[in-house]
Amino acid sequence: MNNKEKTSPFTPGNPVPIELFVGRLDKINELVRYVGQSSSGKQENVFLVGERGIGKSSLASFLRYYVSTKKNMLGIHVFLGRVSTMEEMVRHIFDEILKEAKTQTWYENIAQLFGNRIRQVGLFDISVTFAPPERDLRELVRDFPAALNNLLQKLKEERAGLFIALDDIDALVDNAEFANWYKSFADDIATHYEKFPVFIMLVGLHEKRDILSNIQPSLMRIFRVIEIEKLTDEEVRTFMSQAFGKADVKVEPEAMEWMVDSSSGLPVMMHEIGDATFWADTDGVIDKDDAVTGLLAAAENIGQKYLTPQVYRAIRSQRYMAILRKFGKRKQFISRYFRKRELEVKLTAEEKRVLNNFLRRMKDLGVIESDIEGGVGAYRFVNDMYPVYIWLESTRFERR
Ligand SMILES: Nc1ncnc2c1ncn2[C@@H]1O[C@H](COP(=O)(O)OP(=O)(O)OP(=O)(O)O)[C@@H](O)[C@H]1O
Ligand SMILES: [Mg+2]
Repeated sequence: MNNKEKTSPFTPGNPVPIELFVGRLDKINELVRYVGQSSSGKQENVFLVGERGIGKSSLASFLRYYVSTKKNMLGIHVFLGRVSTMEEMVRHIFDEILKEAKTQTWYENIAQLFGNRIRQVGLFDISVTFAPPERDLRELVRDFPAALNNLLQKLKEERAGLFIALDDIDALVDNAEFANWYKSFADDIATHYEKFPVFIMLVGLHEKRDILSNIQPSLMRIFRVIEIEKLTDEEVRTFMSQAFGKADVKVEPEAMEWMVDSSSGLPVMMHEIGDATFWADTDGVIDKDDAVTGLLAAAENIGQKYLTPQVYRAIRSQRYMAILRKFGKRKQFISRYFRKRELEVKLTAEEKRVLNNFLRRMKDLGVIESDIEGGVGAYRFVNDMYPVYIWLESTRFERR
């Protein structure tokens, strides 16, 4: 196959396309149950939590697809990356609703609700955007339940309800107004509406959930929490064979096991490793050599893309690398939890002298934290990705 014509089936850094989505069956079943509750009129709120890169957005995107096609909901997935005000939030929500509706035959039914605040964008009026003045936005923030309810009335014949996933809510949650606004929103619905078929899912990191509960403790009673974790090796294997299969590339069993094992159940790793291996291959068959070359290239990409420059530099510095390598040469031995004492016995006298400094630095950088439950001298890596990355780096180091 000519390299120029190859297209990689992997999507490192973006939500996975529906046809390559794997795993999460139990979570999907649970979520679909709650969505079902809401389409019968009971408004539901879910907080989807998980570490960075564990697959939250992919799950939200899969769920939106599923409820739109199978449950007849109007589904939107809103990315609020840099949004920090309620006004911008509601604008994004209605903008997505409008864009989604635009693809439907009943678009005109709801377009009138938006009045003359719809702007046609692009050639041939293909796309629409919701661009009301600030004053209207403030009103929508205040009367959000009533606005959604009017929309639902118009949609009654067409859709069973509304599915809203609010993703990348970091900046929004940092604004204390959000927690209070959400609480009033939920209370308002509970007291004023008999039927309100709306499912809302916030998508974020654990810390963001903690912030919300500190600002508005009673808010936490409103949310059902769904947490996602690593994939199983079996799920990673399924993903790899489907992805390579889609690109018409064969994978030798030994290479497959190498990629599955190195991915360590982490979706980010699985895509980076798959992608780098895909590009390392030149003959349409992935053998062990391709997989090893791929893994080393993936380590480089992961270091640069997912670690902050400070962490990246610290982990790769000679001084610390010597200690980090002692965590274990085989991946199986690298655990997310470790004890200072157990690490210390593996170090040379010189390495021992920098150990305290090393631990402090890793803590400051947010790579490790004290493991309270483990007692004095017990630590854990903040993210599952760190120990896997450290193992990758030491593998690279050994090969050099
Ligand atoms: N269930 C899955 N099946 C296949 N690939 C997945 C799955 N979940 C996630 N991925 C892939 O893993 C990577 C991270 O996924 P995603 O962006 O959904 O994670 P996230 O938790 O939203 O990350 P962030 O915290 O950065 O927002 C992406 O490359 C995505 O394509
Ligand atoms: Mg995400």
